[in-house]
Amino acid sequence: MGKEDIIKKGDLYFPGEELKKGAQLKDEAIYQKAAKDPVKFWEELAQDLKWSKKWEKGFSHDPPYFEWFKGGKINITQNALDENLKERANKPALIWIPEPIEEQARVLSYQELLREVNKFSNVLKKLGVKKGDRVGIYLPMVPEAIIAMLSCARIGAVHSVVFSAFSPAALKIRLQDTGAKILITADGYYRRGKIMNLKENADEGVKETEVEKVIVVKRAGNEIPWQEGRDLWWHELVKDESDQCQPEIMDSEDLLFLLATSGSTGHPKQIMHTCGGYAVQAKFTGKWIFDWHENDIFWCTADIGWITGHTYGVYSPLLNGITTLIFEGAPDWPEPDRWCQIVDKHQVTVFYTAPTAIRMFEKYGEDFLKKHKLDSLRILGSVGEIFDEAAWYWYFEKVGKRRCPIVDTWWQTESGGILISSLPGMGPFKPSFIGLPFPGVKIDILDNKGKSLGPDQQGNLVILPPFAPGFLRGVYKNSKKYLETYWKQYGKEIYFTSDAAYRDKAGLVRIVGRVDDVIKVAGHRITIGELESAIALHEDIIGCAVVGKPDEIKGEVPIAFVVSKKTEKPVEQLKKEVVEQVKKEIGPIVLPQEVYLVEDLPKTRSGKIMRRILKKLFTGEPLGDLSTLANPQSVEKIKKIVCG
Ligand code: WT7
Repeated sequence: MGKEDIIKKGDLYFPGEELKKGAQLKDEAIYQKAAKDPVKFWEELAQDLKWSKKWEKGFSHDPPYFEWFKGGKINITQNALDENLKERANKPALIWIPEPIEEQARVLSYQELLREVNKFSNVLKKLGVKKGDRVGIYLPMVPEAIIAMLSCARIGAVHSVVFSAFSPAALKIRLQDTGAKILITADGYYRRGKIMNLKENADEGVKETEVEKVIVVKRAGNEIPWQEGRDLWWHELVKDESDQCQPEIMDSEDLLFLLATSGSTGHPKQIMHTCGGYAVQAKFTGKWIFDWHENDIFWCTADIGWITGHTYGVYSPLLNGITTLIFEGAPDWPEPDRWCQIVDKHQVTVFYTAPTAIRMFEKYGEDFLKKHKLDSLRILGSVGEIFDEAAWYWYFEKVGKRRCPIVDTWWQTESGGILISSLPGMGPFKPSFIGLPFPGVKIDILDNKGKSLGPDQQGNLVILPPFAPGFLRGVYKNSKKYLETYWKQYGKEIYFTSDAAYRDKAGLVRIVGRVDDVIKVAGHRITIGELESAIALHEDIIGCAVVGKPDEIKGEVPIAFVVSKKTEKPVEQLKKEVVEQVKKEIGPIVLPQEVYLVEDLPKTRSGKIMRRILKKLFTGEPLGDLSTLANPQSVEKIKKIVCG
């Protein structure tokens, strides 16, 4: 390489000359240009996509509702697949790495992927799926997950993916909320060398829902329960199907997908994303933030069950005609260097993961890294939770060898695509700061009264009109929740993110954390309410409070305080059952790390549980004035239990 790749100036890092020269974006004037007229800016980007009919209006606003590219007609799969056939028919669109080492990777070219999508689109049509119908997808990381999503999009059906590690109870709520009549699942999948029986979970989850047909991908070949007439094998359905299927022409504002996310209450919200705007934002945020060029191999480690998997595992790379890599297994199985092996073997150039994974690897020491070159990597990305300085440096030095820009990307399920990040060809990259808003995105940081705050002043991060084209258009069948969650704090024209943040003098944003009852556990978003309602279903539990405790690897972990009925059960047994209860209701992804059995929870005189005080037991902050509590003595007792 010779010349310096990354240049350090004070506490900032910048791309060196070589990096700059080759970058998609290198002229900072783009920020001013976009800020002057964001709608025009996004409209110019939209012209790069293939529309069956051009839109009439770029942005229309009827607060708190808005639309992008109204009147435009588009199909996202035509852009992501057909359009790439001209120049890239035989180029790999998708590389799939199974977990078992001895199993071969599966590579699908753009042409092959389109054929598979067309076949499965025809299957769905024959089963009666029509434009606007919701289809549930409960699949592990296998190519069929992507094929299924794209097939829905091709025929105008609305996909609603449920993370495969969610429990049957969590699947059921999501199926009920979307009213899906079809569920696509698999027999099983590999996780840490074991076969997980997904079909059993699916069978349990479809009970009391409207699901009429269950399509099953044969992945692991394990024994599964089968219901004749309802269950259908994927491979049998597609066998004789035609590989031609015309894309359904969609209105820009037609629904593309629903994805559940946690909010302030126990019940998840189904976030609505629409076709045109989402495609535009997905395409250009990926292209510019990850600086994709024709031969890039991009690996986004997020599961397709999350928005990151949707936008940057599937849609964005395909819209840009590059290769996306997905992996079935766990990051450190069978050895901590599994991910490194994949990077070297498949020559991954751009890598996108979450700080939790980085901190986990950091704990393993450096030896496992030394066996691997990692020299194909050009750019490293991070997402989902606060990226602390220590982890940032580890990623920068040990993984990127000080050669690769780090893009920390801030966004939400609601925003559909990235909103804040630095750009590789410009920088600056500043440890633990995200960067500037993406061109065309207007943000502010407000105090509780709505006053805009200056440098270093912490407040609430908000997004201002025209937001961004990929933003949510609503909460499915729940406009009240949409209004209350996002448009109540500052009125109907200012989107409230629920994140606290501040800016430095250069305007670089630093995220401080959520201000609502959401906790981020290993990047997974979960509400206190969801965990508490799960625990409350246990027959012996009569009161419970969950708080997030800072954790070195996962960022935060849930801690449960429970009050039980009089029971003969040994305490340890009860604690175990509480954890099991969460596993049953939600899944193994966010289990309480600790369960404390207490006599009483601190409450205000009106009966509100004061979680804030419980949280302070772990952060070391002073407990403050307890005199407003109805039962101040409860705090002392709990403190003894927790701190000994
Ligand atoms: C929340 C959204 C959309 C990506 C996956 C998460 C937190 C997200 C960052 C970041 C610090 C971050 C925020 C946000 N978050 N990215 N780069 N640095 N915090 O999506 O599950 O909808 O969660 O994740 O708190 O509000 P999500």
